[in-house]
Amino acid sequence: MSGLGVPFDDPELEARVTAGVEAVEARLLEATRAPEPFIAEAAAHLLHAGGKRFRPLVAMLAADFGDPTREGVVPSAVVVELTHLATLYHDDVMDEADKRRGAPSANARWDNSLAILVGDFLFAQVSELVSHLGPDMVRIQAQTFSRLVRGQIRETLGPVDGEPALEHYLSVVADKTGSLIAAAARFGAKMAQAPVEVELALTEFGERIGAAFQLADDIIDIVSETDESGKTPGTDLREGVPTLPTLIVLRDAAPDDQRLCDLLSGPITDDAEVAEALAALRVHPAMDEARALVQAEADAARALLSQLPDTPARSALADVCDVVVTRLG
Ligand code: IPE
Ligand code: IPE
Ligand code: MG
Ligand code: MG
Repeated sequence: MSGLGVPFDDPELEARVTAGVEAVEARLLEATRAPEPFIAEAAAHLLHAGGKRFRPLVAMLAADFGDPTREGVVPSAVVVELTHLATLYHDDVMDEADKRRGAPSANARWDNSLAILVGDFLFAQVSELVSHLGPDMVRIQAQTFSRLVRGQIRETLGPVDGEPALEHYLSVVADKTGSLIAAAARFGAKMAQAPVEVELALTEFGERIGAAFQLADDIIDIVSETDESGKTPGTDLREGVPTLPTLIVLRDAAPDDQRLCDLLSGPITDDAEVAEALAALRVHPAMDEARALVQAEADAARALLSQLPDTPARSALADVCDVVVTRLG
């Protein structure tokens, strides 16, 4: 559902945010245009497939702390969502994912090379867009993108010598996902010319709710019964990508969990073993512990909102914190 289905108590805020997100949508489509029909189709493939547009929502809510009608606000949200879109093309290659947004992933529909190159094309489009927003924005975008990519690389490499697995995972989550959602909040605030202290508080908020969002997504990879997430459940298990619930199981290594720990200690290639691991995880107490950690992250994000002026946008951001957790069912 678009924007995660965050409820709006204030109709005027809802009208402003909806107009902003719709303008972002139109600009996103424009940004996927290419002279070659095939490239244009491949670049728009995942855009048409769906997506929650969570980052544009965060950007527009952050912009509401300044003047959301200023020129740079909508393009800055486009920059963030387009960066996100491009990372999905590459991430699905890395994770060998076959589905995205309820559609075949680009690597499944075409092949890895095309998925990587179309992702690169989208990153190039981002660079052009952000160049119109000034050197500060170019710098923040570059730093954000660097952090995101380093997060993806560190996930692939795993913990370095002596680094605790859970600590490594949480820092990867902050880098690969928190960074871009923080940038969404920062860009919205900056382009709307919100006061600097408000921009800082919103950036911190984005970082924290972004982490909660990713932790929740990793739980959904395990609990989603069907393809309701638009992705194939168990993708992280197949790839041997550790996530919060699996790291808790491995950390505690209870004697009864020997079989599950064996399964979780590497990629699982066999479909029956993926199903077995999913079934065991779904009823495991580690799931409740993982959910409690998402709740704690969302609560920490919400607490940061007290630094902001009490406006309808602040209430909506508090609702965003609730929705990130209630999405877990
Ligand atoms: C997917 O992001 C990758 C994560 C950071 C969890 P979203 O859950 O925002 O994906 P879309 O844009 O709605 O498809
Ligand atoms: C999300 O990657 C982060 C980025 C794409 C940078 P994941 O691999 O955790 O997300 P999903 O589950 O494929 O959406
Ligand atoms: Mg993935
Ligand atoms: Mg991944």
